[in-house]
Amino acid sequence: MYEYSIDNKNKKSLYDDLYNACEAITHGETDAVANMANVASLLWQYIPQLNWAGFYRIVDGALLLGPFQGKAACIHIPLDKGVCGAAASTGEPQCVEDVNQFAGHIACDAESVSELVAPIKSSNGNVIAVIDLDSPNKARFDEQDIDGIIRIAEMLGPRLSESA
Ligand code: SME
Repeated sequence: MYEYSIDNKNKKSLYDDLYNACEAITHGETDAVANMANVASLLWQYIPQLNWAGFYRIVDGALLLGPFQGKAACIHIPLDKGVCGAAASTGEPQCVEDVNQFAGHIACDAESVSELVAPIKSSNGNVIAVIDLDSPNKARFDEQDIDGIIRIAEMLGPRLSESA
């Protein structure tokens, strides 16, 4: 049984504790799917106001659905489509206040309004996956959310690529 103490009285403590939990649960594990599955669970459990949290991996030049929590989602996303494709192709995080205003947004769940996607890079800098968070609330994500998710994505990079 895993038990983590996550203090979500503010975003700094939430993301500090969440980072430590994600680091601890992936530490020493070499299977990428197992690591993504546990991290998706932690993100979903502790980050408030989400309706989807999970991963897409780059497989054969496109994004392929990975472990997640939330409603069943689109399986294949081309790199030139959607918020996830933008993060994967540019290597830059994408924070979208209102997905209805984002050209090319892919609606997996009509309830999603705002979205935060962070690229995950291998040790040699190639994007290998993305973390995708969706919220039913407009402008749900701010700089602290972006920084918190980037830190987790950076920690995960070597832990997903070495075993993928
Ligand atoms: N909305 C995403 C697609 C993935 S789902 O949100 C789970 C996008 O535009 O890339």
